Amino acid sequence: MFTAAHRVTKITKNESLAPIEGDKTTTIPQNKNLHPEFSPEIPQTKKKKLFRTDTSEADDASSLELFQKRISPILRSPKASSCMECHLSGVDLKNYIGKTEEETFASLRSGGLIDLKNPDRSKILTFIKRAPKKESPISREVRKKEFDAFRAWIRLAVKDPELAAAKAGNDQLGPTLPLEVVRHTRKSRVLKSFVENIWSEVGRCVNCHSPELNRNQIGRNGLTKEDVEAISWVVPRNPAATLEMLIESGNIDTDNPELSSLITKPVGLEKHGGGPKFALGSRTDKNYRRFLNDYAAIVNGKYNKLEQLPEEPTEIAVLSKQQLRIVDLPARLDKKLLRVDIFRKVGRTWSKTRWATAESLINGERNMWQNVILVIAPRDSARAKKMKPNVSRLPAGRYLVKIYIDQDNKTKKDRDYQLGKRDFYGQVEIQGEWKPGYQPPKVIQFPAKS
Ligand code: HEC
Ligand code: HEC
Repeated sequence: MFTAAHRVTKITKNESLAPIEGDKTTTIPQNKNLHPEFSPEIPQTKKKKLFRTDTSEADDASSLELFQKRISPILRSPKASSCMECHLSGVDLKNYIGKTEEETFASLRSGGLIDLKNPDRSKILTFIKRAPKKESPISREVRKKEFDAFRAWIRLAVKDPELAAAKAGNDQLGPTLPLEVVRHTRKSRVLKSFVENIWSEVGRCVNCHSPELNRNQIGRNGLTKEDVEAISWVVPRNPAATLEMLIESGNIDTDNPELSSLITKPVGLEKHGGGPKFALGSRTDKNYRRFLNDYAAIVNGKYNKLEQLPEEPTEIAVLSKQQLRIVDLPARLDKKLLRVDIFRKVGRTWSKTRWATAESLINGERNMWQNVILVIAPRDSARAKKMKPNVSRLPAGRYLVKIYIDQDNKTKKDRDYQLGKRDFYGQVEIQGEWKPGYQPPKVIQFPAKS
């Protein structure tokens, strides 16, 4: 039996990086939560009034005094800068501050971050000004302090002839990592990846893990109300808050990402109240691991080079509500991983790319296989842009169902193994409408081996 209380006591390892916790940047309007293409930032124009303060101090201090009093302390501060609210690694305001005023000024100027003619329009100020839609009062204060300090200093510094003559050293101040890495480790990118790899299939978990749906689990298998509340890690219609919740509750382990309960339980490597939800080596397993490993690498600062970044999957998929059943499977195929790829008739030929897929273990005892299908399309295709979980489904039409079976359990040995040509078993054509839901599923006969 698990204890209801444990979720509160588990704490993330990466707190000091202050990543997702408390972040409001990634909260998404309820109706937009389904598609990954979102950006939490608001156009700069809307925010002008946020920073209209502070000119007084600048008048009587020298730029050096200002630098020492207000810029250097940022460098020495153990606290994370406001940048970390959106950038999980590679970017920190500290990276833009040198040991001396001259070094800092010369480097920022040569890096194009200071605008000599229009100091208030300096790029470094634009970076600092970038705020999430919903700023917490604390980060708002930090950001304002940083902004006021830099603006006051830059205003004075650009007028100083000695600074103007200062030569930049060899070390360019700025991000410590290549821009591709900076981009990859932005929080909004992380959220996009969470949505694509995990949230897109959260429908497999909501009956027990969403507070909106799991009340009827109370009383089952001895689960109390508290037990059920303790495992309500899904925040309905809010992938950003769900991710926060998973981190806070310790279900994501950034030291050993593949040992996170988020994967070990549903894939059946650890006892799970809900039983195994997807197979080892299946697409879902690969997606979960892709996200978890990438997230851990990001918060642990493991990426230094472009080549280390994981490749983006070429397809995106969402869970439909359409069920596919294959009957008359031989018992000897029990527990083998079976995948279907479904192609649509377009004109006279079958589509080049698959329109749907599904993957799970064969139930040899009952001579069948059944699964809900994922609607799938190449990234950036028109079809992909329209896809929505639980809403998207295969329209009526003619389809070719290609069946692949992992007869030698290759995916169990190597979870990254992709079933391919060698695992092809046979194919079946289907036609007509395909209603969502279990009753009835689309039923096809297991084909003779081709
Ligand atoms: C509200 C979220 C947010 C905050 C806070 C934020 N950034 Fe960014 N940052 C972004 C976004 C979004 C981009 C990508 C902008 C684009 O592609 O035009 C970006 C891009 C960058 C880049 C790469 C520029 C490029 O050409 O891709 C750097 C460097 C950067 N930010 C530095 C900083 C620094 C330094 C801070 C803190 C002073 C900061 N950012 C704070 C959201 C943020
Ligand atoms: C039929 C109900 C059911 C379904 C569906 C289900 N689970 Fe669970 N899950 C449970 C129960 C009950 C527990 C508590 C017992 C335990 O820890 O195994 C649990 C625990 C967990 C935990 C640990 C939670 C915590 O805070 O301790 C994680 C993580 C988890 N499940 C992930 C998933 C994922 C991911 C899915 C979907 C792919 C899923 N579960 C689907 C019933 C379910």
